[in-house]
Amino acid sequence: PLVSMTEFLPQAKANKFAVGQFNMNNLEFAQAITEAAMEEKSPFIFGVSEGALKYMGIEYTVAIAEAAAKKSGLPIALHLDHGSSFEVAMKCIRAGFSSVMFDGSHYGLEENIELTKQVVKAARAMGVSVEGELGTIGGVEDDISVDEEHASLAKPEEAIRFYEETGVDCLAIAVGTAHGMYKGEPKIHYDIIQKVSDAIPVPVVLHGGSGVPDEAIRLSIAAGVGKINVNTENQVACTNAIREVLSGNASVYDPRKYLVPARSAMKAVVQEKIRLFGSSNQA
Ligand code: G3H
Ligand code: ZN
Repeated sequence: PLVSMTEFLPQAKANKFAVGQFNMNNLEFAQAITEAAMEEKSPFIFGVSEGALKYMGIEYTVAIAEAAAKKSGLPIALHLDHGSSFEVAMKCIRAGFSSVMFDGSHYGLEENIELTKQVVKAARAMGVSVEGELGTIGGVEDDISVDEEHASLAKPEEAIRFYEETGVDCLAIAVGTAHGMYKGEPKIHYDIIQKVSDAIPVPVVLHGGSGVPDEAIRLSIAAGVGKINVNTENQVACTNAIREVLSGNASVYDPRKYLVPARSAMKAVVQEKIRLFGSSNQA
């Protein structure tokens, strides 16, 4: 069965590795992620954004994730990514999600704390884990778009207070990464990660994991990141593989001819990330 993130995040924090959240956008994503994790014997998180949920349908989403858990025997959490309301979080929990993120980062601190608390209270009663977010992460993901001047780093004191009042299971804080691919190298504020991580018992979450150099990922984990989200790199690998097949052969009509290479390309991305995050053999 699908598990709460509390099944593996405490070990990640204690043993200084990170569990990957790989976003699921369709069946091939789910298969690629699961196969990579099976080879690495790694726990992982299926991230599902509200956009992806709309695209796949909630019933298919849960069924695919449950099939992956059954087939792999791995600890897999099915996690709502950037949930925008209490209602959508509850809808996901009712449908079978084992974890939810409530992203109240566009509210003021007090309101974010209040709303996140409500989600934690309801989710905890059902054994479902919760991620909160503080500060504004730049870039574009589905319907959420934040330009650079509106991206703002999290303040450590606020993040610590946010944790103490909400009791979330992990905390996403804006530390300089952005959603989507980067134009230059991201400037990650390791000092913010370290300060927050040292003061709270749960791991810090790094969003916008795509395109972050390996060394920056290692330093982030050393500073206290225990969950890393990756979506765009898989989307790029998928689309590039499909484009390569189609541009080389105008007579292809069987989708499997381009989806098989697309799936292999994503599997390779995920396997590399799992090794980099240090979660191999932690299942
Ligand atoms: O919430 C999802 C992640 O933060 C995805 O970020 O698309 O830059 O990998 P990414
Ligand atoms: Zn994100």
